[in-house]
Amino acid sequence: MAAEVLNALKPKPGGRYADGTLGGGGHAASLLAGSSPTGWLHGCDRDGAAVEAARRRLSGSFAGRFEIRQGNFAEMAGWIPAAICDGVLLDLGVSSPQLDTPERGFSFQHDGPLDMRMDVRQTLTAAELVNGASPEELAKIFWELGGERDSRRLARALANNRTRQKFETTRQLAEWVERLSPRRGKQTHPATKIFQALRIAVNDELGSLKRGLEAAMKILQPGGRLAVITFHSLEDRLVKGFGREQTRDYTCPGGVDVPELRQPRVPEMRWVTRKAAKPGAGELRENPRSRSAQLRILEKL
Ligand SMILES: C[S@@+](CC[C@H](N)C(=O)[O-])C[C@H]1O[C@@H](n2cnc3c(N)ncnc32)[C@H](O)[C@@H]1O
Repeated sequence: MAAEVLNALKPKPGGRYADGTLGGGGHAASLLAGSSPTGWLHGCDRDGAAVEAARRRLSGSFAGRFEIRQGNFAEMAGWIPAAICDGVLLDLGVSSPQLDTPERGFSFQHDGPLDMRMDVRQTLTAAELVNGASPEELAKIFWELGGERDSRRLARALANNRTRQKFETTRQLAEWVERLSPRRGKQTHPATKIFQALRIAVNDELGSLKRGLEAAMKILQPGGRLAVITFHSLEDRLVKGFGREQTRDYTCPGGVDVPELRQPRVPEMRWVTRKAAKPGAGELRENPRSRSAQLRILEKL
């Protein structure tokens, strides 16, 4: 959604931008190109390989115009000064290099270790969760983060199975799930939801997103814009909820919205567009992985 992001953030010479999810540096490069010759980019990614790829990509044409580091966007406000950014981008989820590198263990299309860490300096892996978490904890992860309806049965069976043989690889887990829940004509692989849930849990993706949205608020200056691309409903719900809170002109004491108890306050943001933007037909043809992407844009007041 490169064009939509540019249209949302409208980079200009001298502007300052933050990209919390550098990946291969595609969006970062277009923000720097759009803000030539004097725009500046602060960028980070949890994944050291992504940071290196982005550094290589940006060093040629944009040398001296960016500061990038490895880290969670939840911590952006710790190193980017408050209220200086004209635009902040969070392009959530996993990157193609992560999905396509078997050793990273994100996908069951290839066989690899059950890893799924975006930041390999972190100790918790998917294998540790699968082989170590209680059946109740696993059922909660499968249901809440994957929407897996059969979460309890799968979690109990998994806990039984691992006493005989630990789960070590992506294919081993995917094939085991398929044996327990055959496809019965469904197009998507029966392990898809389990893999999504494990990935979100291993990387604490929702906790990071909550903190990342707060961090973005801090580093944006008035008139600056926040663009967030989400890939599943849990992320999108969180962004919508954050936007709802920041854009309304009242607070709800105790966190419950009782109209009589509302306290007036000045909204801190406004929605730039009411509805989320989705990829067009051309992009879907070129990049089928973008099919669930949604872009939401907020402006700091
Ligand atoms: C969809 S890709 C981004 C692609 C990138 N916009 C580009 O143009 O190439 C998502 C990236 O976000 C990173 N990521 C996800 N959650 C993160 C977080 N909480 N903090 C920092 N990076 C994160 C992933 O490691 C991955 O590299």
